[in-house]
Amino acid sequence: MASSEISRDDQIAVLHALQDEGKIGHIGLSKVTPEDIRYVLKYRPIAAVQNVLNTTDRDDPTVEMCRALSIPYVAYRPLDAGLLARTHGPAAPLRWLLSQGSHVAPIAGTSQPRHLNEIVAAVQPGPA
Ligand SMILES: NC(=O)c1ccc[n+]([C@@H]2O[C@H](COP(=O)([O-])OP(=O)(O)OC[C@H]3O[C@@H](n4cnc5c(N)ncnc54)[C@H](OP(=O)(O)O)[C@@H]3O)[C@@H](O)[C@H]2O)c1
Repeated sequence: MASSEISRDDQIAVLHALQDEGKIGHIGLSKVTPEDIRYVLKYRPIAAVQNVLNTTDRDDPTVEMCRALSIPYVAYRPLDAGLLARTHGPAAPLRWLLSQGSHVAPIAGTSQPRHLNEIVAAVQPGPA
């Protein structure tokens, strides 16, 4: 949603048109504030919110808002673009994200099968 070039109204109008034409089923938002969410909810449901959240960038008020509104929250850049994984390993940062609520789903990125295995192991239920 954050854009200096295209207004929020114009972005939302395009999404509504695509939904009305049947080209998209649901509307998800990224890089949004609580005010953005309140604005969009005046017109349509929100399927998911995707914002940056990790143990360095941990103060996103939309986490609580999404919990209260039962909107799934997708945490992007959960490893702070790899910095957290390189300094602490991926488990602690990913498990912190999972502890923020059952509505929070981290989406870690990797190009390496070994790292993928570590990420999958880190988000398994049970003791870390
Ligand atoms: N909505 C948005 O505006 C937005 C913005 C940014 C990102 N995203 C999305 O968020 C997802 C993840 O973002 P991201 O990839 O930028 O950040 P990230 O998941 O925080 O970090 C990815 C980096 O972590 C490294 N890494 C992963 N596991 C590791 C491990 N076990 N040990 C050491 N390093 C490890 C990866 O390197 P290797 O490749 O070497 O494993 C990669 O460089 C992507 O799907 C992306 O599309 C969305």
